Amino acid sequence: MTTRHPFGTTPDGRAVSRLVLGGEPGLELHLLDLGATIHRLRVTGADGVRRGVARGHPAAADYVASDAYLGATVGRYANRIRAGRFELDGAAVQVPPNDRGNALHGGPEGFDARVWNVVEATDDTAVLTLTSPDGDQGFPGQVEVTARFVVGTDALDLELTASTDAATVVNLTQHVYLNLDGEGSGTVDDHELQVLASRYVPVDATGIPLDGYAPVDGTPFDLRTPRRVGDVVRQGHEQLVPAQGLDHDLVPDGSGVREVARLRGPVSGTVLTLSTDQPGLQVYTGNFLDGTLPSPSGGRYRQGDGIALEPQLHPDSPNRPALADPVLRPGETYRWRAVWRFGS
Ligand code: GLA
Repeated sequence: MTTRHPFGTTPDGRAVSRLVLGGEPGLELHLLDLGATIHRLRVTGADGVRRGVARGHPAAADYVASDAYLGATVGRYANRIRAGRFELDGAAVQVPPNDRGNALHGGPEGFDARVWNVVEATDDTAVLTLTSPDGDQGFPGQVEVTARFVVGTDALDLELTASTDAATVVNLTQHVYLNLDGEGSGTVDDHELQVLASRYVPVDATGIPLDGYAPVDGTPFDLRTPRRVGDVVRQGHEQLVPAQGLDHDLVPDGSGVREVARLRGPVSGTVLTLSTDQPGLQVYTGNFLDGTLPSPSGGRYRQGDGIALEPQLHPDSPNRPALADPVLRPGETYRWRAVWRFGS
């Protein structure tokens, strides 16, 4: 059986648990029921040293106070909806704007802020569920969500599913910030990043798509061959400057579960290979980490201390039928899958 430990309480008195899956010599995942959060992920590097490669906060209250979504399972609608407004079957829907005038990551009390139910917990598997009631953060329909985390020797496999009792929009993601060189190793500037995408979605200064897709050719978004992250984010490209780095939806080539990205830590030699069935990958280089949010070692996270590779639908899809169809109807099942494989 998975060990389940108390992880304190939220400031409003909700008890939080930490589940531990897997273990040496393979992956070890510490999962919080608060936000179905990847709190810690321990991996043995190419040099034989075990490191925590996922960024987390020390305490439950830190997760509640944080606006960085460290390790959170994000919903009901990951990424942005322009002005929090969209039309669904002819009716106007307004959800609260919480990021530069737009709705971000499901609103002020998104799925990251909820304590999920643990319905199964074994040595290598945890299944968590969440009921999001009709009207939750302004979204119509009662949505039932399931997150199934499975830890193998060298891979973490996550499947998210959702169903609804009335038409709504759903876009989930996992917002783990990676630093393959471990806690206290500084920024990911020296990591090598490869994203197998020949297109990306240019955005305005608030992260909303300008039009449709654009080719990555000749831009900082051409990551088809591995690039050093620190070199990519320091280019003076008009798309990078307002975002202070990468905070963009790349469009990985192909469909179905396929390899979309690789990341290599220079010190550990650890190589992450990310596969997903999602059409978009939001690549976010921790641009808004500003030296205030606490790390488990007692320090603070600064800009670039982690990178989030977030499989999801393209941003603002409720207003962009040409980009993706985010509508979920009764009788349908929303499915999302990602596999993080660690090697060298
Ligand atoms: C996503 C967004 C970013 C930022 C982070 C959380 O990656 O695209 O702009 O809001 O979440 O800080």
